Amino acid sequence: MSGKPVNALTEGEAADELERLAGEIAEHDRRYHAEDAPTISDAEYDELRRRNLAIEERFPDLIREDSPSKSVGAPPAEGFAKVRHAVPMLSLAKAYTDQDVVDFIERGRRFFERDKDLDIAFTAEPKIDGLSASLRYENGVFVQGATRGDGAVGEDITANLRTIADIPARLAGSGWPEVIEIRGEVYMTYAEFQALKERSAASGGQDYVNPRNTAAGSLRQKDPSVTASRNLKFFAYAWGYTTEDPAPTQYDAVQKFADWGFKISPLMVRARSVEDLIAQYKLIEAQRSSLGYDIDGVVYKVDQLELQRRWGFVTGEPRWAVAHKFPAEQATTTVRRIDIQVGRTGTLAPVARLAPVTVGGVVVENVTLHNEDYIKGFDSFGLPIREGNDIRIGDTVVIQRAGDVIPQIVSVVIDKRPADAEPYQFPHSCPVCGSPATREINEKTGKEDSRRRCTGELICAAQAVEALRHFVSRGAMDIEGLGAENIDIFFNAGLIKTAADIFTLKDRRPDVQRALAERREEQAKLREAASGKTRKNVRSVEDRNYEGLDKLFAAIDARREPELDRFIFALGIRHVGETTAALLAKTFSTIEELIRIGKETAAAADPHTVFPSINGIGDTVIGALRDFFANERNDDVLDALLTQVHPKPYVVTVSADSVVAGKTVVFTGSLEKMSRSEAKAMAERLGAKVAGSVSAKTDLVVAGPGAGSKLKLASELGIEVIDEDEWFVRVGKG
Ligand code: IVH
Repeated sequence: MSGKPVNALTEGEAADELERLAGEIAEHDRRYHAEDAPTISDAEYDELRRRNLAIEERFPDLIREDSPSKSVGAPPAEGFAKVRHAVPMLSLAKAYTDQDVVDFIERGRRFFERDKDLDIAFTAEPKIDGLSASLRYENGVFVQGATRGDGAVGEDITANLRTIADIPARLAGSGWPEVIEIRGEVYMTYAEFQALKERSAASGGQDYVNPRNTAAGSLRQKDPSVTASRNLKFFAYAWGYTTEDPAPTQYDAVQKFADWGFKISPLMVRARSVEDLIAQYKLIEAQRSSLGYDIDGVVYKVDQLELQRRWGFVTGEPRWAVAHKFPAEQATTTVRRIDIQVGRTGTLAPVARLAPVTVGGVVVENVTLHNEDYIKGFDSFGLPIREGNDIRIGDTVVIQRAGDVIPQIVSVVIDKRPADAEPYQFPHSCPVCGSPATREINEKTGKEDSRRRCTGELICAAQAVEALRHFVSRGAMDIEGLGAENIDIFFNAGLIKTAADIFTLKDRRPDVQRALAERREEQAKLREAASGKTRKNVRSVEDRNYEGLDKLFAAIDARREPELDRFIFALGIRHVGETTAALLAKTFSTIEELIRIGKETAAAADPHTVFPSINGIGDTVIGALRDFFANERNDDVLDALLTQVHPKPYVVTVSADSVVAGKTVVFTGSLEKMSRSEAKAMAERLGAKVAGSVSAKTDLVVAGPGAGSKLKLASELGIEVIDEDEWFVRVGKG
């Protein structure tokens, strides 16, 4: 950013500067809107726009045709049909300080000055950090949904929006206008984001950076069932075209939306003074960290629609509303060390160890550095971040906890860089096993993956232990009492090297006992050291009664005949998550058949001549299966495992005579007697189709406690709803 004050610019400099700003802002718009990958903070972006405006104010003759002040956002991405918004989707003016809010209200007072006693009311509500969407309802029926796009033209993402439970297919209640475009924000909760990150890590999928970008990516899916699996949420807060005002005031209109079946922010209030608005801002800010989703400020809007209309618009923004942004919580600290962690699929994940510092009430000591490029100062598109600065050990860095609870490094204080600080050399070999660590070329894009991966696979202790943890985890073999901690103990004691060893632990009972005892001793010593007290009564190892062990061995034995889909998932093949594992099980029916086809595919020049085409399984998965079955070590591991474990053949006994055969069933709420995946498998075995959301095509809804909007929609659509007990009665297992 050029530093010269606007009032010191010559006309020639101003023209150059406007040209530069137009290009730069357009590029940031594109990254933000079309790629969901912004590279500068909102405040920096706003600063660029402010400078552009300030220069234009001084030199109005220089305003360019392509000036950013004439547009909002970026043109829509290719791939979806375009939708022209009947009423444009605007952006909001921003306030950063209390004074900015005072100024906003003053502008209003001045504008309406002729109405001396006019008492202007405002609403105040959280600014949700998601993606705005416009939902068109005709006679109460959801007919079309679109993204904001550039404000004038968005993308038609109706099918994806239909999968969101908070978006009613039909409006509830009554009194809705004949046509209304409901507007609001699609967002992802932290819980959902974390769960997705974990699922993705378990199957070696992509890395997700933050909930907002992930929500954006989820909305742009070609396959709506992917969107459905992301459990997005929606708050309604505004409207576009409508045949009739929903109510005379903003506040009451939004309350109506709630009557019609939408979620509205519980933190929205009506206020009459600056003090009340700021008080609500403070209250919302105080609750920010416990909301469970990102918000980045508070939006104030004039309450009376009549006054909104009179006050009107400037380019792309209503005059009658403003977004009061939260300051990002920042702090300065130093990078003490950079550690490399090795994950299950071998990814080398760099972590900066920081001098501990408090940011927004939380002590931050570690921050992820994502990957090699990120440390060098580039994002995954190869575009510069942090103004191109790399991160070095010893650097002073500014860290921030933005809306995300996850801290990040926003900049490096170059002036404070120690003279001897060297650029960080990202290891080209695995710090755990010494195998080469390489960057793969993505076959589809031809681009190098930003992540460097250890090629050691199971000879790498880090990968082996992660693979074992995954093998016993809940979605996989689900061995009770054998969690990550016990796996670590047995692995470190040399008792288990690969999954097969788990099933022979019983034969090595004394060793197992010793490993556990040693661990307990160690922990006791640590506690002792920490508390400064010495133990008096130390029971000897032999005294202990490890009745827990019998239970553990029984739990292991109980899993010797696992369901085929769980078993396949448990193998931890890259890109094979639970859903893919189930598809493979369904297709091949037995593990022997999967292995046979897997090996033939690995040996074939063109995998497609061998591997059947399966809906939902693409080249990435086929490639991963090829790699897995081409590797002789995996052969050995699998052979040993199959002498211990006999996965049940996957029988698709689609009983055509079952009462639910051919029906579309939706499970909602928390189920108590079966997991979601069990419920799904069971219904499918009985010939039913399981859907993620309720629609007119749904035949039956099985609702557990806490069922919300799906249940509501089902009753609106007159669909039969039963509870879990009734489900078992019907399917004959009650
Ligand atoms: S009102 C006429 N209310 O902020 C004003 N917008 O900067 C229309 N946003 O594109 C927007 N929460 O994506 C409004 N409670 C809220 C909001 C909100 C988030 C987003 C929305 C909009 C952007 C404008």
